[in-house]
Amino acid sequence: MKTRAAVFHEPGEPLAIEELDLDEPKAGEVRVRMAAVGLCRSDHNVMAGTRPVAMTPMVLGHEGAGVVEAVGPGVTRVAEGDHVVLMFIPTCGVCDNCVAGRTHSCVLAARIPLGPQLDDTYRLHDAAGRDVGQFCLIGAFSEHVVVPELSVCVVDDHYPLEVACLVGCGVVGGYGAVVNRAGVTPGSSVLVIGVGGVGMNAVQGARIAGADVIVAADIVGRKLEWAAELGATHTIDATTDDVVARVMEITGGSGVDFAFEAISRPETIGQAFDSTARLGTVTVVGLTPSRYDAIPVSPLGLVLGQKTVMGTLYGTSNALVEIPKVLAMYDEGRFKLDELVTSTYSLDEVNRGYEHMVAGQNIRGVITFG
Ligand code: APR
Ligand code: ZN
Ligand code: ZN
Repeated sequence: MKTRAAVFHEPGEPLAIEELDLDEPKAGEVRVRMAAVGLCRSDHNVMAGTRPVAMTPMVLGHEGAGVVEAVGPGVTRVAEGDHVVLMFIPTCGVCDNCVAGRTHSCVLAARIPLGPQLDDTYRLHDAAGRDVGQFCLIGAFSEHVVVPELSVCVVDDHYPLEVACLVGCGVVGGYGAVVNRAGVTPGSSVLVIGVGGVGMNAVQGARIAGADVIVAADIVGRKLEWAAELGATHTIDATTDDVVARVMEITGGSGVDFAFEAISRPETIGQAFDSTARLGTVTVVGLTPSRYDAIPVSPLGLVLGQKTVMGTLYGTSNALVEIPKVLAMYDEGRFKLDELVTSTYSLDEVNRGYEHMVAGQNIRGVITFG
């Protein structure tokens, strides 16, 4: 069959909307009719060339949700008609980490930048007959996708897919960093530097975990207003204020118990470190471009402050469990998802959506398929 998709060719170039040939699902694969996909910064990092992928052309997009419309031979996890959220790290279920309940570190995460499906062949082909890769095995900027059943999480069909899609990446990434990686405790103090699509959910996670003081820092005023609506008790405009000095003021000179960096810049990771109290933790969520090989962390401060600096990927979550859990909290009104979608776009408007992301206009822009 044919599918229209947004194809990445060259760093620095806009995505090209093309009609591609899509093969039938092979063994262990499913075809999903996409309903919605979030414009996550990680795809943009590929477009900008700061996060290289192994091949081009490649369809980007990984924060997606849709409905299963066909299944290949041997598929057991899902059936036609199931509503699914796509997972950007598959869960093979049998590697050491999956068996140990750490699916966020599944051995198949190594497939993210490669392009082909798990059997090393391609399901997408362009008009010139070239194979087309799928970012994260997914390539969600496409009307239809064929993906491994290992990459989908079935969700109840009453959830609006335009918001459920966000749970597949940014929501679980930010929320999980707080509850799974850092283990924020009731009554504690938290700083989130960068309250975009990911950081906003760290703020929500901190609120749900019962933190008393939740400080959000950003360079866009509107993001700070949104953060306050989603649970931040204090906000810092990093364009006018010194983040570390303001955090010290807010916390009476001690610093926060838990700091999170959700941008991807060495200097803001340094700010997170300097804003942390003795015995505090710094959790780095942002995927810093590979050209950086150091962060400004004082070795003496690390030891005297007895601090912990750590990274997290996919919110250190077992996505198959965490995605339905977050959606259940959405049902209860405890987790805000509708508020995260500040603009919607058609597939043809994908580049405009990314321009808006770069300009700081959205918490999340979402592409919806008519
Ligand atoms: N200080 C404070 N905030 C900043 C600064 C700065 N120097 N620079 C940028 N920001 C803010 C932006 O205004 C924005 O609100 O950081 C936020 C980043 O959010 P998004 O652009 O929405 O990016 P997001 O999708 O949340 O991803 C953040 O996490 O998963 C990774 O690859 C992803 O590295 C990226 C990071
Ligand atoms: Zn993402
Ligand atoms: Zn695995």
